[in-house]
Amino acid sequence: MESLVSLAKRRGFVFPSSEIYGGLNGFFDYGPLGVELKKNIRDCWWNDMVRRRDDVVGIETSIIMHPKVWEASGHVAGFSDPLVDCKVSKNRYRADQLFWAPVVVTSADGVAQTVGYVSALESERTTEELQAAAEQLKRKKAIQGTLAAVSPKDFTEAKPEEIGLIPSPATGNPDLTPPRAFNMMFQTNVGAMTDASSVAYLRPETAQGMFVDFKNVVDTGRVKLPFGIAQTGKSFRNEITPRNFIFRSREFEQMEMEFFIHEDDDWAKWHRYWIEWCKDWLKSIGLPDSHLSEYDHLKEKLAFYSKGTTDIMFKFPFGVQELWGIAARGNYDLGQHAAASGKPQEIFDEATKKKFVPHVIEPAVGLDRIFLAVLTAAYAEEQVVDEKGNAEMRTVLRLSPRIAPVKVAILPLLKNKEALVARAQALHKKLQRRYAVFYDEAGAIGRRYRRQDEIGTPWCVTIDFDTIEKEGDTFTLRERDSMAQRRVTEAELLALLDEQVY
Ligand code: GAP
Repeated sequence: MESLVSLAKRRGFVFPSSEIYGGLNGFFDYGPLGVELKKNIRDCWWNDMVRRRDDVVGIETSIIMHPKVWEASGHVAGFSDPLVDCKVSKNRYRADQLFWAPVVVTSADGVAQTVGYVSALESERTTEELQAAAEQLKRKKAIQGTLAAVSPKDFTEAKPEEIGLIPSPATGNPDLTPPRAFNMMFQTNVGAMTDASSVAYLRPETAQGMFVDFKNVVDTGRVKLPFGIAQTGKSFRNEITPRNFIFRSREFEQMEMEFFIHEDDDWAKWHRYWIEWCKDWLKSIGLPDSHLSEYDHLKEKLAFYSKGTTDIMFKFPFGVQELWGIAARGNYDLGQHAAASGKPQEIFDEATKKKFVPHVIEPAVGLDRIFLAVLTAAYAEEQVVDEKGNAEMRTVLRLSPRIAPVKVAILPLLKNKEALVARAQALHKKLQRRYAVFYDEAGAIGRRYRRQDEIGTPWCVTIDFDTIEKEGDTFTLRERDSMAQRRVTEAELLALLDEQVY
């Protein structure tokens, strides 16, 4: 992960926001290559989700909406995470990411006793860390007997009498407050007044835009159930613990779609359909099947209106984590907005001559999170043999041609041979009309290939003496992954790009 973050910075994919002022935790900027990669992922999603389907339309709604939207949706009352403060260090933790365990020792005569408590922050190694801390505590207190294996719980599961005994990860002493709900919406004020009447929120999800505009789309869009409304755009959450680079940030971009179905339709069939669709789409932009899995939310932890939620999980370097949530939300959201606004959110059923509120399946994903997933899956360091037969390490991003920031690098073999440069520049100009391409004439050809490998360019085209001296106007096409080289004509190159970049 560290090498990846360093590559992302070094090659202009992602920078910390406001870096010259020390950065701002949970905010990031995308550099020249990052913005291309992000745009390509967004465009692939938009093309496949909206343009190439007859049953999904797109919209773009405002980031700041009427504050009543967030009251009706339940966000004002309930969009919170449990927050714990360390009274001494002033560190803040999410209670469900702060783990603890009682340290239990059994004496020679078989009596098990709790001799203290240990804590650790959520990670791949939480249990090991708690066990090590328990052993250390037993040693420090010189307690005789057999130490039991720790059974970790998160801080939301601590009983009131245990809260005052669990040590803060920062101080090692029991300095933690009881958890309290922390609303994650960013507040702002609209207009000149800064009082309660002008309070508004930066949206914490794009989904509500689709619900609030549902009737507008139905009345103007010639849509028929089942159909979807999709949008991409920024969302904002004042996360207690932004972490893992761009995995959880405070400003991020979502790509969400609300798929409306008849109240009598088989929601489970559509739910499964969209889970499969999302997995296939992730594979189409290069994520390996082996890194994907599904997690079904426990029935008892679902909101009362939810029929089921399945997350597509991804194997990140820091553990298996949620990538894409697919929720079957019944008709809760439209029903809430109908009740709060007094405007019915119904559809007329020609068959039964009755009105009803459609149900919805919601695939919701974070663009930045997919960006991180594709970078981590694509990143490789491998030993290769250079043109002179010497072993060397190369860093390569095996990005799918669909999303690679640069599709082709055009390289004249020598920069001081006018005919080579002229042919290369002509090709560059031609390809540039349709694709992001890169012209590079600086340095040895092997080094130029490596530079492109590092940023994930799938193909390099070298304009060499055979191009200008032999018949056929062919170039050397070098493939990033296999490093194999072959000769192609311009027409063959265009056909390859047309087939692979879609
Ligand atoms: N409308 C439903 C909704 O927003 P969510 O599970 O809270 O559901 C959907 O968010 C997706 O948005 C997540 O699966 C994740 O990919 C992304 N996401 C959520 N919070 C994020 C954050 N703080 N930083 C980056 N991505 C985030």
